[in-house]
Amino acid sequence: LSFGTSAEASIVIAQEIADLIRDKASKGENAVLGLATGSSPLKVYDELIRLHKEEGLSFKNVITFNLDEYYPMQPDSVHSYVRFMKENLFDHVDIDEKNIHIPDGTVAMENVYSFCQDYEAKIAAAGGLDIQVLGIGRTGHIGFNEPGSTENSRTRIVTLDAVTRIDAAPSFGGLDNVPKRAITMGVKPIMQAGRIIMMAWGSGKAPIVKKMVEGDISMQVPATFLQKHDNVSVYLDEGATENL
Ligand code: GLP
Repeated sequence: LSFGTSAEASIVIAQEIADLIRDKASKGENAVLGLATGSSPLKVYDELIRLHKEEGLSFKNVITFNLDEYYPMQPDSVHSYVRFMKENLFDHVDIDEKNIHIPDGTVAMENVYSFCQDYEAKIAAAGGLDIQVLGIGRTGHIGFNEPGSTENSRTRIVTLDAVTRIDAAPSFGGLDNVPKRAITMGVKPIMQAGRIIMMAWGSGKAPIVKKMVEGDISMQVPATFLQKHDNVSVYLDEGATENL
């Protein structure tokens, strides 16, 4: 789905999420959302906040699972995805703190494996993800599933690709400050979401968008696995469609 601007597309995406939340609420059910960080979903979160403030959209029945977190990472660090989500969404809506899940960048290494298993178990216990929101990295990663991630990969600790670390360097004040690892939901639990909304904005993403949409399905570009999902929409602005 291509739009002139990311702002127009983001309003449509936020509307779909809001419709899900309201529909679930009317049935007395929870809406289970898989959320992403990075710049791509920011305008969607802005619009959800606006819908909360101006149109009474409540997040009381919303359960969220974020894709990933750097490792190691303290939750109160300016670089943490915990902080990112609070500042860009959670602090501005009426979501219940106990319904927020973000991989914990402080878990001791020997406990990461069981932490990751528990994380997937919590998603299952919530009834599975109704909608997973995704951005794409220039490496073709979804979450932090870098090239080499298999279709069956589970939630785990990963080593970040050099390109991903270079892209993150400015916000960390230099490459040396960027963590070398992260905890990410695997490709498998992402693919188990009932609906996937992928978004990519700007001409910088055009080459990887072409590979994701038109390329062979391959673990060299983990986002190509989305071609196999039966309810996925790819939202692009004009720049991101340049190579299609
Ligand atoms: C980070 C996140 C990804 C995100 C990607 C793209 O690496 N872990 O989930 O999709 O960046 O970032 P942006 O949306 O800023 O282009």
